[in-house]
Amino acid sequence: MSETQTNPAVRTVASTQSEMTEIILPNDTNTLGNLLGGRLMHFIDLTAAMAAYRHSRANVVTAAMDHIDFIRPVRLGDLLTLRSSVNRAFNTSMEVGVKVWAENTRTGEVAHVASAYLVFVAVDEHGRLQRVPQAQPETPDEIRRYEGALRRREHREAENSLRKQAKLATAALAETVSS
Ligand SMILES: CC(C)(COP(=O)(O)OP(=O)(O)OC[C@H]1O[C@@H](n2cnc3c(N)ncnc32)[C@H](O)[C@@H]1OP(=O)(O)O)[C@@H](O)C(=O)NCCC(=O)NCCS
Repeated sequence: MSETQTNPAVRTVASTQSEMTEIILPNDTNTLGNLLGGRLMHFIDLTAAMAAYRHSRANVVTAAMDHIDFIRPVRLGDLLTLRSSVNRAFNTSMEVGVKVWAENTRTGEVAHVASAYLVFVAVDEHGRLQRVPQAQPETPDEIRRYEGALRRREHREAENSLRKQAKLATAALAETVSS
């Protein structure tokens, strides 16, 4: 495959869509028989990574999982389906959205149980940042998510900058107290 085919300048959002289905077993649950939050986050991270791999065709690392809503519990024996796609790509990073549904295997009832946004960064085999193709949204939903991804990136950057300032202020205060 030529370099251009492997790494085009633009890739459609549809081409990044990924899906995973799991049956919830006793090892996945707490003492109430509900899926553990950490286990759900693990499934979300994996499904999101699949979309990021498909978009970048590179190694990816999770930089942030910045928004997750646990809407309702998932029960032992439920079938969990997770779907992901890249919402938008920037320079070396991509925002991926993941939506999760649980299906009651006896009644067939399907409910939306969680949603999350994650940021992945593409790196080469030495861990150096690698540029990624731009993401091309095509449907109204994909366009809405694409536009939202820019607002969320700005919000994320503002929060990171506030955290850095708070850290510097705490370090400066500690220096003053100790001297
Ligand atoms: C993610 C990581 C590669 C970023 O490296 P860095 O040197 O801080 O990179 P930069 O500040 O130059 O930012 C590079 C990109 O990452 C994005 N980024 C960095 N930190 C981020 C954060 N906390 N949240 C969202 N995006 C982030 C930047 O916006 C930038 O995106 P762009 O190139 O599309 O504009 C680095 O912090 C890292 O390796 N973290 C650990 C990842 C990891 O171990 N994850 C868990 C297991 S996979």
